[in-house]
Amino acid sequence: MKMIKNTLFSEKPVNIGPESGYDNYIMAIESSCDETACAIVKNGREVISNVVASQIKTHAQYGGVIPEIAAREHLEAINVVIDEAFKQANMTPDKITAFAGTVGPGLVGCLLVGLNAAKTLALVHDKPFIGVNHLNAHLCGNYIDTDLKPPYIALLVSGGHTQIIDVKSYSEQKIIGETIDDAVGEAYDKVARLIGLPYPGGPVLDKLAREGNPFAFKLPEAKVDGYNFSFSGLKTAVLRLVKSFDGKELPVNDICASFQECVSSTLFKKVKKALLESGYKQVVIAGGVAANSEIRKKIFSLENEGYKVNAPAMKYCTDNAAMVASCAYFNTDTFDDVDVEVFSRA
Ligand code: KG4
Ligand code: ZN
Repeated sequence: MKMIKNTLFSEKPVNIGPESGYDNYIMAIESSCDETACAIVKNGREVISNVVASQIKTHAQYGGVIPEIAAREHLEAINVVIDEAFKQANMTPDKITAFAGTVGPGLVGCLLVGLNAAKTLALVHDKPFIGVNHLNAHLCGNYIDTDLKPPYIALLVSGGHTQIIDVKSYSEQKIIGETIDDAVGEAYDKVARLIGLPYPGGPVLDKLAREGNPFAFKLPEAKVDGYNFSFSGLKTAVLRLVKSFDGKELPVNDICASFQECVSSTLFKKVKKALLESGYKQVVIAGGVAANSEIRKKIFSLENEGYKVNAPAMKYCTDNAAMVASCAYFNTDTFDDVDVEVFSRA
């Protein structure tokens, strides 16, 4: 449980969390990259409303997210998504227990829009404000609609991060491995671009991979110590493979499938190692790349070995605000100061 004492007018501290003894309705805002999102979540697990305005169409024409354009689009969308979240929930601000917002990591100009909106809502309605780390929030996507409780091993795979985390309790998380170069999502997006697929490359590459032969090309699996990863060598290997076709038609589906096989088996092996060494019987996946069909399939195969496996529903894998609200509820390691500043890197 945590006591938050940052309301502007009433000096009273407010109890938040599973042991608070009453129903908590947390409204959260997420704007760290190219999704403007707002959600209301009851007691960290039950989504009352969930609104996401995606900018993918805008950025697709540039082949990637342009930070200044993203920030401007957040400004245009923010009030609309907040209104819609209240409307879908059929709730008024006085019924909200606390307002939460993503503090970082992310694009600074983008984060500022959502975070300031969350702080303003808290101040105007005299409710507590809770600042949340985006990566912790991704893990909490796993609490939505489940009864999952720590401890467990988490594989966090997104556009910016690739981590294996030992989640000892709701608030105690130890990163035991991470990428030493590209993140998995980044590798997907770069390889997709290399073979001429549209942005965002990850989901498209995943779809084509399902039509190809995963063993058509043997791609190198980086040998990195412990639980760490490296994907830049693999990206170069795909580049070399593409060049070897010398302008002839590429076997796109087979290249996608072989790349996906290499990435997913690397991730699987390290997760398995972490489970064996920790002795935990539960594993979760999180982050945008957790939507990937082959990664899900391999990790879920651990169920056959007696492990409990969880992955958020697709809409709670990619950026959303419900996971931020859940994190504000469960995790006591939050930024509960209305003066907290946004940050770009973890
Ligand atoms: O977590 P997220 O929405 O944003 C970040 O915080 O990074 O993750 C976005 C990343 C992008 O790189 C996107 O290409 C990737 O997730 N992604 C996928 C799939 N769906 C989204 N990568 C592989 N397969 C997918 N099905
Ligand atoms: Zn994310």
